[in-house]
Amino acid sequence: MKLWGGRFTKEENSTVHSFNESLSFDHRFWKQDIRGSKAHVTMLASSGIITDAEKESIINALDSIYDDIESGKLEFTNGAEDIHSFVEAELIDRIGDTGKKLHTGRSRNDQVALDMRLYVRDEIDCVKDLLTDLLKTIYDLMEKHTDTYMPGFTHLQKAQPVTLAHHLGAYFEMFKRDRSRLVDTRCRMNLCPLGAGALAGTTYPLDRKLTASLLDFDGPTLNSMDSVSDRDFSLEFLSDLSICMMHLSRFSEEIIMWNSNEYRFIEIDDAYSTGSSIMPQKKNPDIAELVRGKTGRVYGSLIALLTTMKGLPLAYNKDMQEDKEGVFDAIDTVKQCLSLFTDMIATMTVNKDNMAESAKNGFTNATDAADWLVNHGVPFRDAHGIIGRLVLLCIDRDCSLDDLPLEEYKKISPVFTEDIYEAIKMKTCVDKRNTIGAPGHVAMEQVLKAYKEALTQMQP
Ligand code: ARG
Repeated sequence: MKLWGGRFTKEENSTVHSFNESLSFDHRFWKQDIRGSKAHVTMLASSGIITDAEKESIINALDSIYDDIESGKLEFTNGAEDIHSFVEAELIDRIGDTGKKLHTGRSRNDQVALDMRLYVRDEIDCVKDLLTDLLKTIYDLMEKHTDTYMPGFTHLQKAQPVTLAHHLGAYFEMFKRDRSRLVDTRCRMNLCPLGAGALAGTTYPLDRKLTASLLDFDGPTLNSMDSVSDRDFSLEFLSDLSICMMHLSRFSEEIIMWNSNEYRFIEIDDAYSTGSSIMPQKKNPDIAELVRGKTGRVYGSLIALLTTMKGLPLAYNKDMQEDKEGVFDAIDTVKQCLSLFTDMIATMTVNKDNMAESAKNGFTNATDAADWLVNHGVPFRDAHGIIGRLVLLCIDRDCSLDDLPLEEYKKISPVFTEDIYEAIKMKTCVDKRNTIGAPGHVAMEQVLKAYKEALTQMQP
């Protein structure tokens, strides 16, 4: 059934129908569509626009449509143009003329704006919970690895020793920000567009505040033209998801490197690895690689929607129907990636010894050796030069600063004494760094406390 057949004298061309239709994908928010319609008729009755009996009949039929879709009895195959027409046609089929009153004071323009908001809002809650799970997993790993030493890198060159807890803490921060970005987005979008009509409101005495509160919005939107043409909330959501994928992708990249033969810092569990069809020895980090790879498609959805929206005059244009598939794809992708990634890092094995060994090599304690000189009266720039020469000597002898005999130190600077060795031990290097946010134990303890508190507040 067409919602708009009256003005037309010809049947729609079938190619036009399939080009124009959106039921094949927007059936995804059938629950939100029915929820919105129930709120709308409740408001229509309360405002005296339809009778209570009509409202009851419509709501009962909408409930039965809901049940039938849920049980699989009713499929999305009635040739309708979109989910809105589908539900309305089904309603009229079930209760006749009363069903025809559902769309009073409403347009598909405000209806679809509502449905998509309800849908995005639900999915924000879902992604938020997945991020909470990931944060919990990272926190547990941090607690376990405050004594797991590893090299910290800059330019992918070993720089200074840190702990695995500290390295993971950086990701805790990133995903905590991702989660709070979703909270902000949800807060900004939580206004109800229903009642905006096609673009200019309606002549019926709609109680928009009631509809908004029935649907758990903070209130109605204040400009009917913006209400039907605003897709900022989807763009913000896609941008939140893109940033989150960027973080997952960076983390995946590190997992892939750490899991490689060259590093052997961690081993991904067999259940989250895959094999090679030709090389029997291989155990590949496909899951991490796919998470990294799928980041591209989420960015793609963001760019596609930004591009779709950029030239649209007010108010509704059919171009906006293109807002959905990218959002759906991004949601599916991010949800899958977050949950698999969380399980993958929860089950990986950490090779503490290899990490510590790697931190020892590569002169990650050179800064601390220079700091020791500074603490013994040598200006920093001179200390930097002295340690640089010692490093060169060590490279020549293929040894570390820890293994270089004291006489060699003294040859370059007489200031050195035996306690230089204690000062450049990896454990000392890390544990002396206790400024807020640094890897030392005292600083880390404070941070873990703050994270625990943050996690408690994230509970639903
Ligand atoms: N399927 C349409 C969409 O997603 C619903 C709104 C249709 N409105 C219209 N004026 N044709 O945008």
